[in-house]
Amino acid sequence: MRTRPLKVALLGCGVVGSEVARIMTTHADDLAARIGAPVELAGVAVRRPDRVREGVPAELVTTDATALVKRGDIDVVVEVIGGIEPARTLITTAFEHGASVVSANKALLAQDGAALHAAAEEHGRDLYYEAAVAGAIPLIRPLRESLAGDKVNRVLGIVNGTTNFILDKMDSTGAGYQEALDEATALGYAEADPTADVEGFDAAAKAAILAGIAFHTRVRLDDVYREGMTEVTAADFASAKEMGCTIKLLAICERARDGASVTARVHPAMIPLSHPLASVRGAYNAVFVESEAAGQLMFYGPGAGGSPTASAVLGDLVAVCRNRLSGTTGPGESAYAALPVSPMGDVVTRYHISLDVADKPGVLAQVATVFAEHGVSIDTVRQQGKDGEASLVVVTHRASDAALSGTVEALRKLDTVRGVASIMRVEGE
Ligand SMILES: NC(=O)c1ccc[n+]([C@@H]2O[C@H](COP(=O)([O-])OP(=O)(O)OC[C@H]3O[C@@H](n4cnc5c(N)ncnc54)[C@H](OP(=O)(O)O)[C@@H]3O)[C@@H](O)[C@H]2O)c1
Repeated sequence: MRTRPLKVALLGCGVVGSEVARIMTTHADDLAARIGAPVELAGVAVRRPDRVREGVPAELVTTDATALVKRGDIDVVVEVIGGIEPARTLITTAFEHGASVVSANKALLAQDGAALHAAAEEHGRDLYYEAAVAGAIPLIRPLRESLAGDKVNRVLGIVNGTTNFILDKMDSTGAGYQEALDEATALGYAEADPTADVEGFDAAAKAAILAGIAFHTRVRLDDVYREGMTEVTAADFASAKEMGCTIKLLAICERARDGASVTARVHPAMIPLSHPLASVRGAYNAVFVESEAAGQLMFYGPGAGGSPTASAVLGDLVAVCRNRLSGTTGPGESAYAALPVSPMGDVVTRYHISLDVADKPGVLAQVATVFAEHGVSIDTVRQQGKDGEASLVVVTHRASDAALSGTVEALRKLDTVRGVASIMRVEGE
């Protein structure tokens, strides 16, 4: 074993960074044996230097992250600050000064992954980011390496623990959205400002990363259709139950049936209770991958938290250090397929539509005609009447999102349709 240590700069020592530092220290001997050389924490960049950080020697702490990555003797930079800047500039500077990079930063990778990969390649360095999607769950490496010989057709995932906790609460207790969110906040599963989670921004960043890797195609954050889950109601769950379904916020990356394009989207969807993703409870994450040769694969586990996320960061650190010792780099960006990313209107799926209608003869026929005129075929219709008003629940066969939008627009114009109470896609069948 080499005795000269590999030097690691840790940028950020918060929820994830503090656990990375702890594991690097407590597992130092095992890590050295697995890598073939000791790893040394050479510096820790933070914003507030006076905070007590257990297990981190005070002399390693600095507020000058730029100087740390420019030192020239750093082998690996671990970026766990988060956000776009200064993380982006620090990572680029790290490559320019000879370091490889491990990051957990989904927001940055979804936005600037291509440029960062290009910078890594230009300088002959590694960029690894297993922790950026679904925390501890091995997903990037299985997609990038284990399935490199297969053809992935679909990735369907619960990639945000906060929203899964809220939806699971609504499902199991009948609570409304706000009540379930309040509980998630009280238990520390939701942040004081939950927008990034509940509006689907966090999941959309992960969908962009997953789609890019799965389909060997650059998928930008702007390419991902996004709908949050704040409008999901207890009534939606009641309807889902009647259909033998539950509701999950899903990230869905799909290759079109003709193979000529891909789509990436995030939105709440009904899935059958028999689907493996339906049984993912609480704040857990799971990703269901469908590929041509392997068939169906399910990756499941804790998608966040300091220690689980640090596990993924450390796995990358070991891989990058091994590459460093053998003078090589691991797989970089694979975007050779360059498939077009289709807009949401081209997505084909099934829909569950709840309408408030006048309870009088001929309404059902009128509604059915609108569906037919837009080429959306109806699978089932359920009607419940009360005091001259009625609710109509229509479940369709597969249709394009554009056709469904046209249908809904036309339905809203009917005098007999008082309102469209909810529209939900039905997935996983
Ligand atoms: N938390 C999770 O469960 C989780 C899961 C998966 C991925 N991630 C990703 O991991 C990354 C880190 O998340 P986190 O939860 O650990 O965040 P965090 O607890 O807020 O920690 C951020 C750290 O960055 C430091 N920092 C902020 N601005 C800085 C600057 N300009 N220069 C130097 N240091 C700076 C902070 O310093 P101070 O300590 O002085 O404030 C803090 O130590 C993010 O990209 C996140 O998306 C997190």
